[in-house]
Amino acid sequence: MKRFRLLTILLVLFPAFLFAGEGMWIPMLLQYNEKEMQEMGMRITADDIYSINHSSLKDAIVLFGGGCTGEIVSDQGLLLTNHHCGYDYIQRHSSVEHDYLTNGFWAMNRGEELPCPGLSVIFLREMRDVTEKVLYNINVDMPEDERQAKIDENIKKLIAKFEKETDYKVSIKPFFLGNEYYVLFNEIYTDVRLVGCPPSNIGKFGGDTDNWVWPRHTGDFSVFRVYADKNGHPAAYSDDNVPYKPAKHLDISLKGAEEGDFAFVFGYPARTNEYLPAVAVDQEANLIDPITVDLRGKVLDIYNQYQEQDPKVRIQYASKHASIGNGWKKWMGVTEGINHFHGVEKKQAFEQDFYDWAMQSRSRYMYVNLIRQFDKNYKELEPYQLAYTYLSEAGLRTELISFAGRFARLSEVTKDTPQEDIDRMLHQLKGTSESFFKDYYEPIDRDVAKMLLKEYLKAQPADFRPSFLNDIKEVNEYVDKLFDKTMFTDQAKVTALLDNFKVKDAKKLANDPALQVYQSLMGFFRNEVHGKMASITADNDRLRRIYMKGQMEMQTEKRLFPDANFTLRVTYGKIEGFKPQDGKTYRHFTTLEGIMQKENPDIYDYVVEPRLKELYNKKDYGRYADKDGTMHVAFTASVHTTGGNSGSPILNADGQLLGLNFDRCWEGTMSDLIYDPDICRNISVDIRYVLFIIDKFAGAGHLIDEMTIVE
Ligand code: ARG
Ligand code: GLU
Repeated sequence: MKRFRLLTILLVLFPAFLFAGEGMWIPMLLQYNEKEMQEMGMRITADDIYSINHSSLKDAIVLFGGGCTGEIVSDQGLLLTNHHCGYDYIQRHSSVEHDYLTNGFWAMNRGEELPCPGLSVIFLREMRDVTEKVLYNINVDMPEDERQAKIDENIKKLIAKFEKETDYKVSIKPFFLGNEYYVLFNEIYTDVRLVGCPPSNIGKFGGDTDNWVWPRHTGDFSVFRVYADKNGHPAAYSDDNVPYKPAKHLDISLKGAEEGDFAFVFGYPARTNEYLPAVAVDQEANLIDPITVDLRGKVLDIYNQYQEQDPKVRIQYASKHASIGNGWKKWMGVTEGINHFHGVEKKQAFEQDFYDWAMQSRSRYMYVNLIRQFDKNYKELEPYQLAYTYLSEAGLRTELISFAGRFARLSEVTKDTPQEDIDRMLHQLKGTSESFFKDYYEPIDRDVAKMLLKEYLKAQPADFRPSFLNDIKEVNEYVDKLFDKTMFTDQAKVTALLDNFKVKDAKKLANDPALQVYQSLMGFFRNEVHGKMASITADNDRLRRIYMKGQMEMQTEKRLFPDANFTLRVTYGKIEGFKPQDGKTYRHFTTLEGIMQKENPDIYDYVVEPRLKELYNKKDYGRYADKDGTMHVAFTASVHTTGGNSGSPILNADGQLLGLNFDRCWEGTMSDLIYDPDICRNISVDIRYVLFIIDKFAGAGHLIDEMTIVE
């Protein structure tokens, strides 16, 4: 272990870089990137970005709501994130009388700010390398479960020790697939209030149609404020709380950015898999993703058909459509990108080099068979991966079946089940049923079920699929009968059952044909899929850890970055457009002009607010106009980002705010597996558009007054 640590230190000291743009770097180690960042144009230091000795940009960055990033932009705890990150909280405060989703919301003073129970923001106060302590007493030849038990024990002891020393929330996370460990000291603030958001036709302009797509015109931002107790410490919501005073808030630049300018993103990327073997990338991009895309595409076709006919159905299925569609479009891009870039072949060529390198020295014996073992494992995994994919994408996608599944536990109660358990289940199920029926349209679900079961039968072998499939003679007839006979399509029946539930009703539930289909799906998963899948995956995790270590040892001239794991990272590149296809070039920014071009009052995603049109016609952009005279809306950069980076600040060479990251171009979504500097682009909303909307559109200039603006 000692030897390996020395080696990583050497790697870090003599870095040669990957492609500019690639990499999600640990802020506390940024001094090793500093030279390159400055050569690319950065005018600040690594220490300005992350320091534990004085205030630094990191003090302005938070993990927002457990899934996005936010940044503090005033000394009064004012926070910016994406509209789609604040969406749930905006929705919760919305009603027919106060439809903030449709109309937007602006608190005109502190008293009007809306509390958001359940919302928290997390500040990273410090991180430290604890690899040696976590891997203390671990040796290479230890059996895997013994190894993990030892690590868990070491981590537990360390956390207990750190928790005694500080008031912060302490956690220890693996990096480099378990080759390194870092401790994170966090502070969690739970009094966070909604301050403002634009109407959805600004904050979500382009909707799902434009999602993952460039050119883009979405004003994807919302505004919150963090509150603390009088001493600045985290406190539960209270009238006595005061706006949080950060050690640092971000300065905002009104200068915009030119093509080629240095830019960096500071935030919380969730998950990447950059060091997978070729066989795994191939399986994901060329087998699993295309099946998922195909099945989801067919579901979306059915949704679209009904949604177009009926405005009520359009609203009922809007959010389902958005969540199915988000993955659908992204994975389509992954497959395209991997193949366009010859990602699998490039990984294979690297694996050949890796093998040759491993063969050069006896001390590398543990690396020699790795690729062969991966090939074998992934081949073995394939039928289980397929079974799992069909189970979730074709089996449980029928809403009736997953809804019925929610009653599985209730269908198993007996006279020995404690009444309080039953009451708790009934209470939960009442809530579940209410929200299910509110957005349920049976004709859609019938059509979806018919289509999906046909696909399921066609694709999965008779001897390896849930047993109910083998009882089907004719799919349409089967589905119609299922829907006619089940109680779960009938709200009155479900409500009556929940209101007067008796233990003997459990049997009736268990006999319901939709619940039986669910049980058949899950039984198959439990008995035939899960165990094998879990054991191969555990072995792959072990192999991946060793492969990662080998890659780091082999590429001493290259500095590798750890896969994203929902910890704070810095990623950097340039402001630039791209060439998505032969003969096609994308400029790096869009303007308000484009919103007017896309405008279509008949298409929900492209309705434009009259007030925005008025400002556009008068060209009333104030100091937020670009020097070219137009209002810039969004821009692209070659900065490596992923899910979780939504809401992250994108900053200029001086560390001033240029915009909020909110998406990627779908052609480059393969960057979670392999980064290609030619086509991987992140998309941000221009901060000047954000301020223009706050100030000119919404008349909430008092918020701008709080901010530090650099003209
Ligand atoms: N594609 C972005 C992400 O992965 C934005 C999703 C929300 N926007 C939408 N139109 N569905 O989170
Ligand atoms: N929209 C994503 C999010 O919510 C960011 C886009 C991406 O995956 O890069 O985090």
